[in-house]
Amino acid sequence: MLAPAVRRQHIRQVLNLTLRAFVPSCLLQEPSPLPLTRLIEFERCHPLRGTFVPHGDHELAVFHLPSGEPVVIDNTCPHAGGNLAGGTFNGNVVTCPLHEWRFDLTTGRCIGSPKAGVKRYPAVLRGGVIYVNVPPSSAAEP
Ligand code: FES
Repeated sequence: MLAPAVRRQHIRQVLNLTLRAFVPSCLLQEPSPLPLTRLIEFERCHPLRGTFVPHGDHELAVFHLPSGEPVVIDNTCPHAGGNLAGGTFNGNVVTCPLHEWRFDLTTGRCIGSPKAGVKRYPAVLRGGVIYVNVPPSSAAEP
């Protein structure tokens, strides 16, 4: 005979395995430790370039890396304010349309000038919607 605590744990494990067998994994993801807010539906994002998305006081650009990972960055180029959502998108790199600075979207760093970079925000794709963790504007880092 199992102790009640062990029996409860065993039942939880069996239920969890049963649930995972019948429910898509995207619906069973653990809750994120970051406060995420709804940003945009995946299908509204352009697949081959950035998508400009205003979000509160922020102007964001959303990209989908070839890996499928959504990337959310500040839309404004740190050089002179170029519109990064309107830049050329190739692989993991976006090129600013004004003076062609190139940014690695996996890090936000400027290629060829590692001290420069664009702010990148944590983002996830769940149920066809991109969620993002964007701090209030006053707390945003440059
Ligand atoms: S404004 Fe982006 S490279 Fe100059």
